[in-house]
Amino acid sequence: MITQNRWQHILGVARKAKLLAAKFKPDDPKFIEDMFLLGVLHDFGYEFAEDNATHAATGGAILKRAGYIHWHEVALHGDETIENMSDELFLLNCADMMTGPSGEDFTFTERLDEIAQRFGTESAAYKKCVLEVEKLKADKRYLKIKIAR
Ligand SMILES: [Fe+2]
Repeated sequence: MITQNRWQHILGVARKAKLLAAKFKPDDPKFIEDMFLLGVLHDFGYEFAEDNATHAATGGAILKRAGYIHWHEVALHGDETIENMSDELFLLNCADMMTGPSGEDFTFTERLDEIAQRFGTESAAYKKCVLEVEKLKADKRYLKIKIAR
């Protein structure tokens, strides 16, 4: 089930995705709208899959069936092993890692600290997120959307 906290996270990610999209492609209002929608849809798989491991694939499969153009990005979000992320997946992953579990506006560092507090620095969840953030920061597109704080 999607909890109240999760809804707040989802809305936070959608707004962050919109903000990052506006930095990335300021002259493309449709792209900005599409990124907001992708943020709205990215975690709804939790309604049908409780665990972290399967919510993305579950959501992606439902959206594929519905004919949603970015079902693939939903299915792959949060996977630190993905090479050649589309612009949409890159921005979605950045937005997800800059938003706390209740929609807080976080830096990558604050997000990682929060994950470390919840699961511990030795947890698979934390290690996976560290790798993901390293990959996002190393991506040349990161320079375009970096938020100075
Ligand atoms: Fe997710």
